[in-house]
Amino acid sequence: MAKQSEFDTLAVRSGIHRSQFGEHSEAMYLTSSFVFENAAQAAARFTGGEDGNIYSRFTNPTVSAFQERLAALEGAEACVATASGMSAILAMAMATLKAGDHVVCSASVFGATVQLFSNIMEKFGVHTTFVQGSSVAAWKSALRNDTKLLFVETPSNPLTEIADIAALAAVAKGAGALLAVDNCFCTPALQKPLELGADLIIHSATKYLDGQGRVLGGAVLGRRELTDGVYGFLRTAGPTLSPFNAWVLLKGLETLRIRMDAQSQAALQLAQWLERHPRISRVYYPGLPSHPQYALAQKQQRLGGAVVSFEVKGGREAAWRVVDATRMISITANLGDTKTTITHPATTTHGRISPEARRAAGVGEELLRVAVGLEAIGDIQDDLARGLAA
Ligand SMILES: Cc1ncc(COP(=O)(O)O)c(C=O)c1O
Repeated sequence: MAKQSEFDTLAVRSGIHRSQFGEHSEAMYLTSSFVFENAAQAAARFTGGEDGNIYSRFTNPTVSAFQERLAALEGAEACVATASGMSAILAMAMATLKAGDHVVCSASVFGATVQLFSNIMEKFGVHTTFVQGSSVAAWKSALRNDTKLLFVETPSNPLTEIADIAALAAVAKGAGALLAVDNCFCTPALQKPLELGADLIIHSATKYLDGQGRVLGGAVLGRRELTDGVYGFLRTAGPTLSPFNAWVLLKGLETLRIRMDAQSQAALQLAQWLERHPRISRVYYPGLPSHPQYALAQKQQRLGGAVVSFEVKGGREAAWRVVDATRMISITANLGDTKTTITHPATTTHGRISPEARRAAGVGEELLRVAVGLEAIGDIQDDLARGLAA
């Protein structure tokens, strides 16, 4: 990883191109199109003979500034920003796959990602095999001659399962396929998938990159030869990041590292407290030595991240009691906010899948997921303690 001081400086200073007005804060260019000096310039811009902005579906200076800053933080050659995390995954898939191709995907990716690969991409002749993310052997045995993409999210949601990015990069390389990593939970502040050998990074910028629950956004990062196809899809199909959201996200990146550090430290404290609590049967947090991939997480991530999941003794009734007794923590399925959130995955994010699939995913009725924010850790613990004591 880059030295901390370099990361912090890039987070605040990269991607800035001041206008003639000399503004200090990044400018927000809320315009759908750009004006040319004459017909020849318009023609040159459209044919690519001259660099410059044309139309905000595919060129906008505020969006470019966000792309440049996020690329700097991930150590990527190029970045293409998108309207949401899901449109980033869709654009990446459209750019890298064609009918007849095969994908291997971790079974514990975000629910909409499962739907995208198993329902939508399947309709267009792209077939996907789902495997256990933490088992390198399972990835290897799922490979086929037509495998073109390995897709993984690590840590996974909600059980924080860790996949070995470097090992999967080697598997992908050996198979002549690409490895894409959804880096949503860690962000580049904690984990750098490209340095570990991944080809592509996906972000739901909606989560920690914004970090304050304000806007939707996404991004695809990697070598330009790969992101050019993503840009081409975006230019034609249009799931584009708005300049307003790009500006909000630029500001989010400025505090990313200090938020991730503070929220990870609080999450570790919460996980340790939960592990000692008599009403809790199991805690899932990569920063705990009891986590099955603790050693890998220590090697691959700078800190454990801000998501802690745990099982409450007494099944759904006891778990719901904890949720309902909260007075401060927000009951919402979103995560990656300065405000701590709590959700019961079995009846929310995983509520629409079959009980068998839920069991296979390890999401039981007794499971709760907390995404730790920036409130005082004592207040977060008190809010959970109330329901646990009931
Ligand atoms: C890991 C992960 N990837 C992708 C997404 C999709 O992002 P978005 O909601 O911005 O489309 C989410 C959303 O919750 C997520 O948690």
